[in-house]
Amino acid sequence: MTRKDFTDALGRAIAFGVAMADKRANTINSVTPEAAASIERDLAFLLASEDTEEKAILYAEAAAIRDQNCGRRMVLRGLVEFSSYCGNSCLYCGLNRNNPKAERYRLTRDEVLECAELIYRAKIQTIVLQSGEDNYPADWLADIIREIKVRYDMAITLSAGERKREDFALWKDAGADRYLMRVESSDATLYAALHKDRELDTRLRSLRDLRSLGYQTGSGIMVGPPGQTLEHIARDIVFFSEYDFDMIGIGPFIPHPDTPFRGEKAGTVALTLNTVALTRIVTRNAWLPATTALGSLDRDYRVDALRAGANVVMPNFSPASVKKKYEIYPGKKCVGENTGACAFCMDRLAEQAGLDLDYSRADSLKSGAEHS
Ligand code: 5AD
Ligand code: FES
Repeated sequence: MTRKDFTDALGRAIAFGVAMADKRANTINSVTPEAAASIERDLAFLLASEDTEEKAILYAEAAAIRDQNCGRRMVLRGLVEFSSYCGNSCLYCGLNRNNPKAERYRLTRDEVLECAELIYRAKIQTIVLQSGEDNYPADWLADIIREIKVRYDMAITLSAGERKREDFALWKDAGADRYLMRVESSDATLYAALHKDRELDTRLRSLRDLRSLGYQTGSGIMVGPPGQTLEHIARDIVFFSEYDFDMIGIGPFIPHPDTPFRGEKAGTVALTLNTVALTRIVTRNAWLPATTALGSLDRDYRVDALRAGANVVMPNFSPASVKKKYEIYPGKKCVGENTGACAFCMDRLAEQAGLDLDYSRADSLKSGAEHS
Protein backbone atom coordinates (compact mmCIF):
# COMPACT_ATOMS: atom_id res chain seq x y z
CA MET A 1 0.00 0.00 0.00
CA THR A 2 1.31 3.39 -0.95
CA ARG A 3 1.66 5.49 2.18
CA LYS A 4 -0.28 8.72 2.33
CA ASP A 5 2.81 10.60 3.50
CA PHE A 6 4.57 9.35 0.34
CA THR A 7 1.89 10.70 -2.02
CA ASP A 8 1.75 13.97 -0.03
CA ALA A 9 5.51 14.47 -0.23
CA LEU A 10 5.50 13.61 -3.94
CA GLY A 11 2.74 16.16 -4.52
CA ARG A 12 4.83 18.82 -2.78
CA ALA A 13 7.92 17.91 -4.84
CA ILE A 14 5.91 18.27 -8.07
CA ALA A 15 4.47 21.60 -6.88
CA PHE A 16 7.97 22.80 -5.99
CA GLY A 17 9.17 22.06 -9.54
CA VAL A 18 6.27 24.02 -11.00
CA ALA A 19 6.77 26.91 -8.56
CA MET A 20 10.47 27.13 -9.41
CA ALA A 21 9.65 27.24 -13.13
CA ASP A 22 7.18 30.08 -12.46
CA LYS A 23 9.71 31.94 -10.35
CA ARG A 24 12.29 31.67 -13.10
CA ALA A 25 9.83 33.18 -15.53
CA ASN A 26 10.06 36.21 -13.24
CA THR A 27 13.85 35.85 -13.02
CA ILE A 28 13.81 34.74 -9.40
CA ASN A 29 16.08 31.77 -8.85
CA SER A 30 16.42 31.44 -5.11
CA VAL A 31 14.41 29.71 -2.42
CA THR A 32 13.98 31.00 1.13
CA PRO A 33 15.90 28.96 3.71
CA GLU A 34 12.61 27.80 5.26
CA ALA A 35 11.19 26.63 1.93
CA ALA A 36 14.48 24.92 1.11
CA ALA A 37 14.56 23.11 4.46
CA SER A 38 11.00 21.94 4.02
CA ILE A 39 11.35 20.64 0.45
CA GLU A 40 14.68 19.03 1.33
CA ARG A 41 12.93 17.03 4.06
CA ASP A 42 10.37 15.84 1.52
CA LEU A 43 13.02 14.95 -1.03
CA ALA A 44 15.12 13.03 1.50
CA PHE A 45 12.01 11.09 2.52
CA LEU A 46 11.15 10.28 -1.11
CA LEU A 47 14.75 9.32 -1.93
CA ALA A 48 14.60 6.68 0.80
CA SER A 49 11.61 4.91 -0.72
CA GLU A 50 12.29 1.23 -1.34
CA ASP A 51 8.70 0.13 -1.86
CA THR A 52 8.07 -1.27 -5.35
CA GLU A 53 4.69 0.36 -5.74
CA GLU A 54 5.90 3.75 -4.54
CA LYS A 55 8.91 3.64 -6.81
CA ALA A 56 6.69 2.78 -9.78
CA ILE A 57 4.58 5.89 -9.02
CA LEU A 58 7.71 8.03 -8.68
CA TYR A 59 9.19 6.84 -11.99
CA ALA A 60 5.91 7.16 -13.87
CA GLU A 61 5.45 10.73 -12.61
CA ALA A 62 9.03 11.60 -13.63
CA ALA A 63 8.56 10.05 -17.09
CA ALA A 64 5.30 11.97 -17.60
CA ILE A 65 6.97 15.28 -16.63
CA ARG A 66 9.82 14.47 -19.03
CA ASP A 67 7.38 13.70 -21.85
CA GLN A 68 5.45 16.95 -21.30
CA ASN A 69 8.49 19.17 -21.06
CA CYS A 70 11.04 17.57 -23.38
CA GLY A 71 9.03 15.27 -25.63
CA ARG A 72 8.91 11.49 -25.57
CA ARG A 73 12.41 11.02 -26.91
CA MET A 74 15.91 9.84 -26.20
CA VAL A 75 18.65 12.09 -27.61
CA LEU A 76 22.23 11.13 -28.40
CA ARG A 77 25.61 12.73 -27.71
CA GLY A 78 28.83 11.22 -29.08
CA LEU A 79 31.53 11.05 -26.41
CA VAL A 80 35.26 11.41 -27.11
CA GLU A 81 37.63 10.95 -24.18
CA PHE A 82 40.58 12.82 -25.57
CA SER A 83 43.01 12.84 -22.64
CA SER A 84 43.41 10.65 -19.55
CA TYR A 85 46.06 12.89 -17.98
CA CYS A 86 44.84 14.58 -14.84
CA GLY A 87 46.51 16.95 -12.41
CA ASN A 88 43.71 16.59 -9.92
CA SER A 89 43.37 14.14 -7.08
CA CYS A 90 39.70 13.36 -6.58
CA LEU A 91 39.68 10.54 -4.05
CA TYR A 92 37.13 8.49 -6.04
CA CYS A 93 38.52 8.78 -9.57
CA GLY A 94 40.78 6.24 -11.26
CA LEU A 95 42.40 8.98 -13.33
CA ASN A 96 43.60 10.95 -10.29
CA ARG A 97 47.22 12.04 -10.53
CA ASN A 98 48.32 9.82 -7.65
CA ASN A 99 47.36 6.62 -9.43
CA PRO A 100 50.57 5.35 -11.02
CA LYS A 101 48.69 2.44 -12.60
CA ALA A 102 46.46 4.69 -14.72
CA GLU A 103 47.49 4.54 -18.36
CA ARG A 104 47.85 8.02 -19.72
CA TYR A 105 47.22 9.11 -23.30
CA ARG A 106 46.30 12.23 -25.18
CA LEU A 107 44.75 11.95 -28.64
CA THR A 108 46.29 13.98 -31.44
CA ARG A 109 44.34 16.69 -33.23
CA ASP A 110 43.81 14.33 -36.17
CA GLU A 111 42.59 11.53 -33.94
CA VAL A 112 40.01 13.80 -32.32
CA LEU A 113 38.87 14.91 -35.78
CA GLU A 114 38.56 11.29 -36.90
CA CYS A 115 36.25 10.66 -33.93
CA ALA A 116 34.20 13.71 -34.91
CA GLU A 117 33.90 12.28 -38.42
CA LEU A 118 32.56 8.99 -37.03
CA ILE A 119 30.03 10.82 -34.88
CA TYR A 120 28.95 12.87 -37.87
CA ARG A 121 28.58 9.76 -40.01
CA ALA A 122 26.48 8.18 -37.26
CA LYS A 123 24.20 11.24 -37.73
CA ILE A 124 24.70 12.39 -34.15
CA GLN A 125 24.76 16.17 -33.93
CA THR A 126 26.58 16.68 -30.63
CA ILE A 127 30.19 15.84 -29.82
CA VAL A 128 31.23 15.77 -26.16
CA LEU A 129 34.96 16.33 -25.73
CA GLN A 130 35.95 15.02 -22.32
CA SER A 131 39.31 14.87 -20.56
CA GLY A 132 40.95 14.84 -17.15
CA GLU A 133 42.28 18.14 -15.87
CA ASP A 134 45.15 17.93 -18.30
CA ASN A 135 47.01 21.16 -18.63
CA TYR A 136 47.20 21.28 -22.43
CA PRO A 137 47.45 24.74 -23.96
CA ALA A 138 43.99 26.26 -24.32
CA ASP A 139 44.90 27.15 -27.93
CA TRP A 140 45.38 23.50 -28.82
CA LEU A 141 41.77 22.70 -27.93
CA ALA A 142 40.48 25.97 -29.43
CA ASP A 143 42.00 24.97 -32.76
CA ILE A 144 40.26 21.57 -32.65
CA ILE A 145 36.94 23.22 -31.77
CA ARG A 146 37.28 25.60 -34.72
CA GLU A 147 38.13 22.79 -37.11
CA ILE A 148 35.15 20.68 -36.01
CA LYS A 149 32.88 23.69 -36.57
CA VAL A 150 34.34 24.27 -40.04
CA ARG A 151 33.88 20.66 -41.08
CA TYR A 152 30.63 19.66 -39.41
CA ASP A 153 27.35 21.15 -38.40
CA MET A 154 27.31 19.90 -34.84
CA ALA A 155 27.07 21.18 -31.29
CA ILE A 156 30.25 20.97 -29.22
CA THR A 157 30.10 20.14 -25.53
CA LEU A 158 33.26 20.35 -23.44
CA SER A 159 33.91 18.44 -20.23
CA ALA A 160 37.48 19.29 -19.36
CA GLY A 161 37.32 20.40 -15.74
CA GLU A 162 38.22 23.68 -14.12
CA ARG A 163 40.25 26.22 -16.08
CA LYS A 164 40.84 29.95 -16.08
CA ARG A 165 37.90 32.05 -17.22
CA GLU A 166 40.00 33.20 -20.19
CA ASP A 167 40.33 29.60 -21.38
CA PHE A 168 36.59 29.05 -21.16
CA ALA A 169 36.12 32.32 -23.07
CA LEU A 170 38.62 31.31 -25.76
CA TRP A 171 36.85 27.97 -26.29
CA LYS A 172 33.46 29.66 -26.41
CA ASP A 173 34.72 32.10 -29.03
CA ALA A 174 36.15 29.17 -30.98
CA GLY A 175 32.65 27.69 -31.19
CA ALA A 176 32.01 25.55 -28.11
CA ASP A 177 28.32 25.55 -27.18
CA ARG A 178 28.06 23.66 -23.92
CA TYR A 179 30.12 22.66 -20.89
CA LEU A 180 29.62 19.85 -18.39
CA MET A 181 31.05 20.17 -14.90
CA ARG A 182 29.56 18.05 -12.15
CA VAL A 183 29.48 19.83 -8.81
CA GLU A 184 29.92 16.39 -7.14
CA SER A 185 28.41 17.89 -3.97
CA SER A 186 26.87 21.28 -3.23
CA ASP A 187 27.82 20.82 0.43
CA ALA A 188 31.20 22.42 1.15
CA THR A 189 32.20 19.89 3.83
CA LEU A 190 31.33 16.82 1.76
CA TYR A 191 32.94 18.41 -1.29
CA ALA A 192 36.18 18.88 0.66
CA ALA A 193 36.05 15.28 1.90
CA LEU A 194 35.81 13.94 -1.68
CA HIS A 195 38.54 16.16 -3.13
CA LYS A 196 42.00 16.67 -1.73
CA ASP A 197 43.15 20.29 -1.97
CA ARG A 198 39.97 21.55 -3.61
CA GLU A 199 37.07 23.62 -2.44
CA LEU A 200 33.49 23.99 -3.48
CA ASP A 201 33.78 27.75 -4.00
CA THR A 202 36.26 27.32 -6.83
CA ARG A 203 33.95 24.83 -8.49
CA LEU A 204 31.00 27.19 -8.16
CA ARG A 205 33.05 30.04 -9.56
CA SER A 206 33.83 27.96 -12.65
CA LEU A 207 30.15 27.09 -13.06
CA ARG A 208 29.24 30.78 -12.83
CA ASP A 209 31.97 31.71 -15.33
CA LEU A 210 30.64 29.16 -17.80
CA ARG A 211 27.09 30.36 -17.45
CA SER A 212 28.01 34.03 -17.78
CA LEU A 213 30.04 33.28 -20.92
CA GLY A 214 26.91 31.90 -22.55
CA TYR A 215 27.61 28.17 -22.34
CA GLN A 216 24.67 25.82 -21.96
CA THR A 217 25.86 24.44 -18.66
CA GLY A 218 25.60 20.99 -17.19
CA SER A 219 26.35 19.68 -13.73
CA GLY A 220 25.62 16.60 -11.65
CA ILE A 221 26.68 14.29 -8.84
CA MET A 222 27.57 10.72 -8.04
CA VAL A 223 25.18 8.82 -5.84
CA GLY A 224 26.67 6.97 -2.88
CA PRO A 225 30.26 8.15 -2.41
CA PRO A 226 31.52 7.84 1.19
CA GLY A 227 29.96 10.36 3.56
CA GLN A 228 27.02 11.29 1.33
CA THR A 229 23.62 11.20 3.07
CA LEU A 230 20.09 11.44 1.71
CA GLU A 231 20.00 15.01 2.99
CA HIS A 232 23.05 15.85 0.87
CA ILE A 233 21.34 14.49 -2.24
CA ALA A 234 18.13 16.35 -1.40
CA ARG A 235 20.10 19.60 -1.12
CA ASP A 236 21.88 18.87 -4.42
CA ILE A 237 18.52 18.50 -6.17
CA VAL A 238 17.41 21.90 -4.84
CA PHE A 239 20.79 23.29 -5.93
CA PHE A 240 20.22 21.93 -9.49
CA SER A 241 16.90 23.71 -9.56
CA GLU A 242 18.26 27.01 -8.23
CA TYR A 243 21.11 26.99 -10.77
CA ASP A 244 18.69 25.92 -13.49
CA PHE A 245 21.24 23.73 -15.24
CA ASP A 246 20.62 22.72 -18.84
CA MET A 247 21.92 19.21 -18.23
CA ILE A 248 22.38 17.09 -15.10
CA GLY A 249 24.41 13.87 -15.01
CA ILE A 250 23.72 11.44 -12.15
CA GLY A 251 25.41 8.07 -11.76
CA PRO A 252 26.27 5.63 -8.98
CA PHE A 253 29.67 5.84 -7.31
CA ILE A 254 31.70 2.74 -8.25
CA PRO A 255 34.83 2.14 -6.14
CA HIS A 256 38.04 1.99 -8.15
CA PRO A 257 40.68 -0.42 -6.78
CA ASP A 258 43.56 2.02 -7.32
CA THR A 259 42.07 4.96 -5.42
CA PRO A 260 41.79 5.84 -1.70
CA PHE A 261 38.10 4.84 -1.86
CA ARG A 262 38.92 1.28 -2.98
CA GLY A 263 37.32 -0.38 0.05
CA GLU A 264 34.13 1.68 0.04
CA LYS A 265 30.64 0.52 -0.89
CA ALA A 266 29.23 1.36 -4.31
CA GLY A 267 26.18 3.58 -4.71
CA THR A 268 22.99 1.58 -5.20
CA VAL A 269 20.93 1.43 -8.36
CA ALA A 270 17.73 2.06 -6.39
CA LEU A 271 18.96 5.31 -4.85
CA THR A 272 20.43 6.45 -8.18
CA LEU A 273 17.10 5.90 -9.94
CA ASN A 274 15.20 7.71 -7.19
CA THR A 275 17.66 10.60 -7.53
CA VAL A 276 17.20 10.74 -11.32
CA ALA A 277 13.41 10.66 -10.98
CA LEU A 278 13.28 13.39 -8.34
CA THR A 279 15.74 15.53 -10.28
CA ARG A 280 13.40 15.25 -13.26
CA ILE A 281 10.36 16.11 -11.13
CA VAL A 282 12.04 19.20 -9.71
CA THR A 283 13.97 20.48 -12.76
CA ARG A 284 11.35 19.51 -15.36
CA ASN A 285 13.03 20.38 -18.66
CA ALA A 286 16.74 19.65 -18.07
CA TRP A 287 18.53 17.05 -20.19
CA LEU A 288 19.26 14.06 -17.96
CA PRO A 289 21.57 11.34 -19.24
CA ALA A 290 21.15 7.68 -18.43
CA THR A 291 24.81 7.59 -17.44
CA THR A 292 27.42 5.09 -18.51
CA ALA A 293 28.06 4.27 -14.83
CA LEU A 294 24.47 2.98 -14.61
CA GLY A 295 25.19 0.80 -17.63
CA SER A 296 28.35 -0.61 -16.10
CA LEU A 297 27.00 -2.65 -13.17
CA ASP A 298 25.78 -6.28 -13.06
CA ARG A 299 23.46 -5.38 -15.93
CA ASP A 300 22.68 -2.31 -18.02
CA TYR A 301 20.40 -0.12 -15.89
CA ARG A 302 20.33 2.76 -18.38
CA VAL A 303 16.94 1.59 -19.59
CA ASP A 304 15.61 1.86 -16.03
CA ALA A 305 16.90 5.44 -15.82
CA LEU A 306 15.17 6.22 -19.13
CA ARG A 307 11.96 4.86 -17.66
CA ALA A 308 12.49 7.07 -14.60
CA GLY A 309 12.81 10.39 -16.41
CA ALA A 310 16.22 10.38 -18.11
CA ASN A 311 16.37 11.27 -21.81
CA VAL A 312 19.97 11.31 -23.07
CA VAL A 313 22.47 8.57 -23.90
CA MET A 314 26.11 9.21 -24.68
CA PRO A 315 27.63 6.45 -26.82
CA ASN A 316 31.40 6.29 -26.62
CA PHE A 317 33.27 7.23 -29.81
CA SER A 318 36.79 7.21 -28.35
CA PRO A 319 39.20 5.12 -30.44
CA ALA A 320 39.04 1.42 -29.41
CA SER A 321 42.75 1.52 -28.48
CA VAL A 322 42.21 4.05 -25.67
CA LYS A 323 38.71 3.27 -24.38
CA LYS A 324 40.02 0.90 -21.71
CA LYS A 325 42.56 3.43 -20.53
CA TYR A 326 40.00 6.07 -19.64
CA GLU A 327 39.18 4.19 -16.48
CA ILE A 328 37.39 6.57 -14.12
CA TYR A 329 35.81 3.52 -12.46
CA PRO A 330 36.22 -0.21 -13.18
CA GLY A 331 33.97 -2.28 -15.47
CA LYS A 332 33.09 0.64 -17.73
CA LYS A 333 30.46 -0.11 -20.34
CA CYS A 334 31.33 -0.92 -23.96
CA VAL A 335 35.13 -0.63 -23.70
CA GLY A 336 35.48 -3.79 -25.76
CA GLU A 337 33.09 -2.69 -28.49
CA ASN A 338 33.95 -1.31 -31.85
CA THR A 339 32.79 2.25 -32.16
CA GLY A 340 30.07 1.53 -34.69
CA ALA A 341 28.39 -1.14 -32.55
CA CYS A 342 26.58 1.53 -30.57
CA ALA A 343 23.96 2.47 -33.18
CA PHE A 344 22.23 -0.89 -32.87
CA CYS A 345 22.44 -0.69 -29.11
CA MET A 346 20.87 2.80 -29.12
CA ASP A 347 17.89 1.62 -31.16
CA ARG A 348 17.26 -1.14 -28.69
CA LEU A 349 17.61 1.07 -25.63
CA ALA A 350 15.13 3.62 -26.97
CA GLU A 351 12.70 0.90 -27.90
CA GLN A 352 12.93 -0.80 -24.52
CA ALA A 353 12.35 2.55 -22.83
CA GLY A 354 9.38 3.33 -25.09
CA LEU A 355 11.03 6.50 -26.42
CA ASP A 356 11.67 7.78 -29.94
CA LEU A 357 15.32 7.85 -30.89
CA ASP A 358 16.07 11.49 -31.66
CA TYR A 359 19.05 12.58 -33.74
CA SER A 360 18.51 16.34 -33.44
CA ARG A 361 21.16 18.44 -31.74
CA ALA A 362 18.78 18.96 -28.82
CA ASP A 363 19.92 22.30 -27.45
CA SER A 364 18.93 23.60 -24.05
CA LEU A 365 15.19 23.72 -23.44
CA LYS A 366 15.58 26.51 -20.92
CA SER A 367 14.15 29.85 -21.97
CA GLY A 368 16.76 32.46 -22.78
CA ALA A 369 19.50 29.89 -23.46
CA GLU A 370 21.74 30.56 -26.41
CA HIS A 371 21.19 28.45 -29.50
CA SER A 372 24.07 28.99 -31.86
N1 5AD B 1 32.42 6.06 -9.85
C1 5AD B 1 31.42 6.68 -10.52
N2 5AD B 1 31.56 7.87 -11.12
C2 5AD B 1 32.76 8.47 -11.05
N3 5AD B 1 33.19 9.65 -11.52
C3 5AD B 1 34.49 9.78 -11.20
N4 5AD B 1 34.91 8.71 -10.51
C4 5AD B 1 33.86 7.87 -10.40
C5 5AD B 1 33.64 6.62 -9.77
N5 5AD B 1 34.62 5.99 -9.11
C6 5AD B 1 32.30 10.62 -12.17
C7 5AD B 1 32.45 12.00 -11.53
C8 5AD B 1 33.01 12.84 -12.65
C9 5AD B 1 32.55 12.09 -13.88
C10 5AD B 1 33.36 12.39 -15.11
O1 5AD B 1 32.64 10.74 -13.52
O2 5AD B 1 31.18 12.49 -11.13
O3 5AD B 1 32.54 14.16 -12.65
FE1 FES C 1 40.79 14.16 -12.58
FE2 FES C 1 39.05 14.42 -10.53
S1 FES C 1 40.77 13.07 -10.71
S2 FES C 1 39.31 15.70 -12.25
